[in-house]
Order: sequence, then structure tokens, then C-alpha cells
Amino acid sequence: MLNGLVILTSIVTSLHTYWPREYDKTYLNDEVSTLIKSTSLKTLADSIPFYIGVATSPNSEYEELISTEFNSLVAENHFKPGSLLKDANNWEFDFSDADRIVQFAQKNDMRLRGHTLIWGKYPGMTHPVEWIDQVKKSADPEIEMKAIISQYIKIVMGHFKGKVVSWDVVNEPMGSKGLYSCIFTEAMGEEYIEYAFREAHKVDPDCALYLNEQIVNYSSTQAKEFLNLLTRLVAKEVPIHGVGLQSHHINHIHDLDGMKKYIRSIAELGLDVEITELDMRLLLFGNENDPYNAQGDQYKNVVQICIADPACKGVTLWGLTDKSNWMDAIPPFKWKSPNSPNIFDEEMKRKPAYIGIWKALNGQSQQ
Ligand code: G3I
Repeated sequence: MLNGLVILTSIVTSLHTYWPREYDKTYLNDEVSTLIKSTSLKTLADSIPFYIGVATSPNSEYEELISTEFNSLVAENHFKPGSLLKDANNWEFDFSDADRIVQFAQKNDMRLRGHTLIWGKYPGMTHPVEWIDQVKKSADPEIEMKAIISQYIKIVMGHFKGKVVSWDVVNEPMGSKGLYSCIFTEAMGEEYIEYAFREAHKVDPDCALYLNEQIVNYSSTQAKEFLNLLTRLVAKEVPIHGVGLQSHHINHIHDLDGMKKYIRSIAELGLDVEITELDMRLLLFGNENDPYNAQGDQYKNVVQICIADPACKGVTLWGLTDKSNWMDAIPPFKWKSPNSPNIFDEEMKRKPAYIGIWKALNGQSQQ
């Protein structure tokens, strides 16, 4: 009887969580003012100054819009090892797609961030599976891992030297209670992070080096352990310059006060901060009177928090339009499509999320 009840509750909860829902687009009734339409996010951000960026792919159909609205760019996927390294056994790379993004950024005078060099989760896309065997079979896994990290960073950062001015050197090092256990920690423990930063600094001493992480709850063990890690890196004089807070709103609306204090704690360590992967599933605001407006308010508040702290240098959006985004492509989120996490809708109309960011940027530039 009890088991039956548990099963029934699980089914109802799953259906509730994954059943697709659409919400009224009341924003379509509102006239977007001429001022908002004629003054881009980039124009406002340049006047602060502040980075407003977007993740993109090569040959995006929205290049004109992107170059009008943003002053910073990152590749959503094409700078990752899984895209660049075509044959891990022979160190054969294909930079052609990534170079198209570089050319686009250069042509439009946009700052280019690199994402990402060393990433221990999800073998395949984040690091080649061949590395796992190579390290396991070697007589000294630590030395082998160091050689791999060093070689990879030398080739990739070397290729983009002078073009990419800020790199996510290590991505998502944290698990929920401490360091995420992966191929790199198995061979080197925590030291892989420090090693990667030191190698990166040797290759391009002018590049801003970032540690990028997705923190959901700013008072969680994960958040505290991440700060402890940063404190240790700074104490050891590791050449780390900033911290990327991804800020995907996937299953929770982030606590704004917590975010504000967390950014300050990082800043007090002497590090810069950027919000590096901002997006928000619309369904998180499903209980609000107007979910699109509530999503817009949260976008505005996050950007305002970043602008208000001098250490926080910019916000990058993880995607441009609800027409195509990673959440609608990857399970389990795709089962709940449309996730509508971005600032333009499927028809490229400006959502309240766009207007929220516009207002946040405009408020600051008028001070
Ligand atoms: O391009 C291939 C396509 O040819 C193939 O048919 C299809 C079949 O699976 O896969 C396509 O590649 C997918 C790629 O996205 C492009 O859509 C990969 O499977 C898929 O794994 C990849 O997902 C990316 C994911 O990182 C893993 O690298 C997402 O687009 C990207 O948005 C996401 O971005 C991450 C950040 O790097 C780090 N922080 C979290 C963030 C969101 O998950």
C-alpha cells in the first residue's frame, strides 16, 4: 500500500516536472519603445564600460544582431576539446570552426572569451576518452597527466594567443561536497587546477585566466568549498585572475542576495568576477502571474547585481533565442521543451528578459 503510494507520488511528480507547458505572451501586447529598439545593449554596456556577451556557434544566422547587441563573444561548443581535438592519439586538431568565430569577433571588434581548456566532467565532449587509458597505462599517472595538460594548453592557447583575451582555464571543478572526482583529480588531486593555471600563464601572460563554476545555492557546501579552493589558490600565488559564475537557472531561481554577497566574497580575495552563462528556464517562474515578466525581472536583477560590484566585469548570455537553445536539445530538459530560457523569443521578438537587461544597463550608464 505504502509502496503504491510512493510510486504514484513519483509518477505525478515526474509528470509535473517534465510535462511541457506554455505561458501567455502578454509582452506581445506591449509596444517596445523606440528608445529601447534604437539603443542596443552593446551601446549601453560600452558607455559603462561593461561586457555584455553571448555564446554562439560559427556561421550563426544572427551575426548581424549579435554584432549590434553585444560587445563580447564566447563559443558555446567550438573551443572545447571535443570540438578541437580530432585525433587525441596523434594530437591532431581542427581549428577551422573555432577560427570562424575568431574572425567574426575580430571583424566586429568584440572581446572574445575562451571556453574551456580543462574540464573533467562528461568524457568525450569535455576531454577525450583516449586520455583516460593513456594516463591509466602510464608508469606514472601524475607525470603523464601533467604532460597532457601542458601539451593541450600549449597548443590551444598558443593557437588563439592575442585573439582570446580571457580563458576559462578550468571548468566546473566542483561536485556538491567538494572537488568533483575525475580523470584529473585521480592523477593529480587538487593540484591539477593550479598546474593548469600556471601552464596557461606561461603560454599567454597577458590573458585573463578564469575558474568557471555553476553555483546554484550560495550558502551550500559546494559554494563554501569553492570559496575555500579559491582562497588556497590565491594564497599559493597561482596566476588566477577571475571567477566565472555560470548562473544557469535550471531547477532553481537563484537567490539574489546570496549572489551579491558571494560576488563580494570573491572580490575580497582580489579576483574579478563575470557571470558567464546566464539563462533561465521559464517554467521556474510558472507560479507567477506573468512568467515572462518575472523572468525579465530576474534577468534585470542579476545584471544589476553584477554592474553594482566593481569586481564584476560582465555578463555573458548562454544563447540568444528561444528558437534554439541547449536546454531544448539535451535530456532531461528537452522533455520539457520549450524551455524558453533566452532573451529573444522564437520569432526573434524582444522578451521582457531583453528589456530587463536593457534597463539594468541603462540605469547604470545614466549615473
Ligand atoms: O553537433 C552534434 C550533432 O552533429 C549531433 O548530431 C548531435 C547528436 O547528439 O550532437 C551534436 O552535438 C551536441 C552539441 O551540444 C551541439 O548541439 C552534443 O551532443 C552535446 O553534448 C552538446 O552539448 C553542449 C554541452 O555544453 C556539452 O558540451 C551544449 O550545447 C552546451 O550549451 C553546453 O554548455 C555547457 C557549458 O559548456 C558549461 N556549463 C554548462 C553549459 C550547459 O550545459
